[in-house]
Amino acid sequence: MIDVAFTRAEARPADVTIVIDVLRATSTIVQALHAGYRRVLCADGLDRARGLAAPGRVLAGERHCVRPPGFDLGNSPADTIPPRGDELVLATTNGAPAIVRAAELSPVVLIACLLNLDAAIDAIAGEDVQLLCSGTDGRPALEDVYVAGRIAAHLDGPLSDAALVARAVAHAYPANRDALAGSADAVVLVAAGLEADVEWCARESVVPVVPRLCATEQGVATVDSGRIIEENHRVVSHT
Ligand code: MLT
Repeated sequence: MIDVAFTRAEARPADVTIVIDVLRATSTIVQALHAGYRRVLCADGLDRARGLAAPGRVLAGERHCVRPPGFDLGNSPADTIPPRGDELVLATTNGAPAIVRAAELSPVVLIACLLNLDAAIDAIAGEDVQLLCSGTDGRPALEDVYVAGRIAAHLDGPLSDAALVARAVAHAYPANRDALAGSADAVVLVAAGLEADVEWCARESVVPVVPRLCATEQGVATVDSGRIIEENHRVVSHT
């Protein structure tokens, strides 16, 4: 069964969970790993993230779209280029906690957005697949449902009613930009002067990286690119 959870509160145990927060957390994670960060530590709160601070770690995140006090970066995907350290610690309002929740519920957690859409579709396998939309403050977010529908439309297997709803939403928009621009989250980002982030996140299948859960502890879910990397950072094999 291919299922969709429209918010974090709807998440359930599943063999495989794909977390989606197009604007902007999962786009930032995908971009960060592609840029060269070895891992992204997703934290369920700002204080948790601050507690993870260490040499080689870069603190990124947002509250109300803005970089929190003491953090190195906000939540703009472009700001992860070039990497400023080895690991990114990310604390955001909805996306990072959704990833932490997924790690509590599923042995396999993948990260998707438009930037890695084709790669994510190719990486998803299993009979019990949950597309978890991060949503916004406990409510569904159009852009997340849109991407869940784009993915669901390409997966083999029966679709739940929620997946059929998401697929219908995806079919309702002729272009990524239309779905994103029509969302309340995009309106908030534009009002905050972050329109370029919306444009960045609307680009499709430009990154081949599919972040994957590799470690979890209380309130923290760590993802990497699912590749084994030598010390000189050359990729030697794929898991
Ligand atoms: C979130 O996790 O709530 C979002 O990524 C917010 C944002 O756009 O920064």
